[in-house]
Amino acid sequence: MSKPSFYITTPIYYPNDKLHIGHAYTTVASDTMARYKRLRGYDVYFLTGTDEHGQKIQSRAEQAGLEPKAFLDPIIEWIQALWKKLDISYDDFIRTTEERHEKVVADIFERLLAQDDIYLSEYEGWYCTPDESFWLERELKDGKCPECGREVQFVREASYFFRMGKYVDRLLQYYEDNPGFIEPVGRKTEMIKNFIEPGLQDLCVSRTSFDWGVHVKSDPKHVVYVWLDALTNYITAIGYGSDDPEAKAKFEKYWPADVHVVGKDIVRFHTIYWPIILMALDLPLPKKVFGHGFFLAKGGKMSKSKGNVIDPLQLIDRYGRDAFRYFLMREIPFGQDGVFTPEAMVDRLNYDLANDFGNLIHRTVAMLHRFYGGAIPVPAGLTDEEEALISLAAQTRELVERYMDEMQFSLALSEIWNLVRRGNKYIDECQPWKLHKEGQTERLQTVLYHMAEVIRLATIMVQPVMPDAPKVIRRQFGWTDEEFAWTALNIGAGVGGRRVAEGEPLFPRLDVEKEIEALTEMTTSTVPNQQAAKDTSGQQAKAAEKGQDKSGAKPQIGIDVFDQVELRVGQIKTAAKVEGADKLLQFQIDLGSETRQIVSGIAKYYAPEDLIGKKVIVVANLKPAKLRGVESQGMILCASEGDALTIATVPDSMPNGAIVK
Ligand code: ME8
Ligand code: MG
Repeated sequence: MSKPSFYITTPIYYPNDKLHIGHAYTTVASDTMARYKRLRGYDVYFLTGTDEHGQKIQSRAEQAGLEPKAFLDPIIEWIQALWKKLDISYDDFIRTTEERHEKVVADIFERLLAQDDIYLSEYEGWYCTPDESFWLERELKDGKCPECGREVQFVREASYFFRMGKYVDRLLQYYEDNPGFIEPVGRKTEMIKNFIEPGLQDLCVSRTSFDWGVHVKSDPKHVVYVWLDALTNYITAIGYGSDDPEAKAKFEKYWPADVHVVGKDIVRFHTIYWPIILMALDLPLPKKVFGHGFFLAKGGKMSKSKGNVIDPLQLIDRYGRDAFRYFLMREIPFGQDGVFTPEAMVDRLNYDLANDFGNLIHRTVAMLHRFYGGAIPVPAGLTDEEEALISLAAQTRELVERYMDEMQFSLALSEIWNLVRRGNKYIDECQPWKLHKEGQTERLQTVLYHMAEVIRLATIMVQPVMPDAPKVIRRQFGWTDEEFAWTALNIGAGVGGRRVAEGEPLFPRLDVEKEIEALTEMTTSTVPNQQAAKDTSGQQAKAAEKGQDKSGAKPQIGIDVFDQVELRVGQIKTAAKVEGADKLLQFQIDLGSETRQIVSGIAKYYAPEDLIGKKVIVVANLKPAKLRGVESQGMILCASEGDALTIATVPDSMPNGAIVK
């Protein structure tokens, strides 16, 4: 039987600047949902991308003195690197400047014109360039954009218009027939009251006062309005309007979308204009638009001018992506606004991750080693204590599934943590150390087994939010695919008898004062990407002389210098310790067309057998060198910070030998 499909999208963000924590929030939430659905057996298609046309991008590029494409490319690279850093598991990244998209947008415009859904007239009114939105005089708030509060400009130009009014009744009917279409439900009332009841205006769908966009085929001095262009990405990316049979099949398979995840600022475009465009194209409407709330900084809305923009990269670098993602998903109920405070972040990481989950694992592993030779026992008889734990676990699974299906991530996590905390209490109550001392071996076996089972269940359920820790915990406990499947989410499905590795604590406890200070500095200092430019302290000048700035960054190089480095995907075939060298591991690595021997100083961080099969990035044109007498023909890329080190890995789907750049 083929798997049911699940198509989920994020907004395509404006690459006019680097993204901030708000954009990361939407993307992490969508990724969490995509991962959850994959675990539940769906064939998921997860789309993200960038919205690259329009007046805002054109004028930002002009300010930078660059052609739009030259301005955009490095920002897109930065965005993709951010998503990689967060391990966003998207299946496709669409740029609206790609031909697969532009061509179809131009065709759609012609079709709508031919159908008389679009007509030529003149626009006279207000425009908010940062939001790329049109406003009527009466809609302005104190003369400013009612959505974002910024300055608007007066525009008068020849424009095409879309007859929105024609479809309003059908739209309202769709809302009524599909109560889950707009979530949270309060946003639907808002849409009706603010935009539909006052009379839905025809929407201006072309511009003539600049030219960075998709040109109208039959009237090329017009460029397609950036929102009509952008919304269409959800269908062009999966093959709508393409002649290619494979693309067509993809569209058939995934459309309509199961959910468009967006922020509340753009719910209007997704629940009014987008459905109407789809109706005009005779296509089914998306099943759901989820409009989540806003992440606010202490001074209110995050903005460059307030200098309170929170840079996700700094947080990920300091706390790791699991902790960052956990915080985003746990802290604010999905749908509501919330304020980012350093205190809340440190508390979450300390209480939930270090105290609750980290401690449960740490205690359990220590006791398995102290009292049972490092293995998970086979349970003996059960008492009321275990029965209670078993029924809590069953209830937890049910609630987690329900909340995840409803995209209530914070509630799902709160249920998982309820189970984790109960696990810690169970240990306190059953006192395995006492059972050990008193020689109550059977009872001890049962208790130790159930401790490990709570960890197994929590680890499975936390996977959609945390891409890394569950893998490490799983390896430590040695659970098989069957034991680690979502279908094995009941106490008792874990098999006793296997050895558990000792392992390092996964979630270190943070020094509250120190972290709050560091976080406050990060969140109240100047805008991160301007900081470097502003910082001209003597220390930095000195560091620059040595070729390094204070963050360890090196001086800029041209793409030509970078191009001299040959990076390739390689797969580790064998791994072994190097005789007489306790830091070194020796690998045979498959680079597609050849096998290389590489020696690397990472023995402290990895057991050789844990690395076999991994796809890594190899510097393939490094001059061979001898380390302790063993020849090394290249280098494996690793990330390190302080005492931590991780090999940079590549998804298994990437073939050996693929170029990395
Ligand atoms: O609107 N809190 O792009 P955009 C939470 N290109 N989420 C936030 C946020 C915050 N403080 N700030 C931004 C556009 N977001 C269009 C979209 S889609 C066809 C075209 C997130 O770069 C949130 O998801 O302005 C919001 O809707 C989106 O970024 C806006 O991104
Ligand atoms: Mg915006």
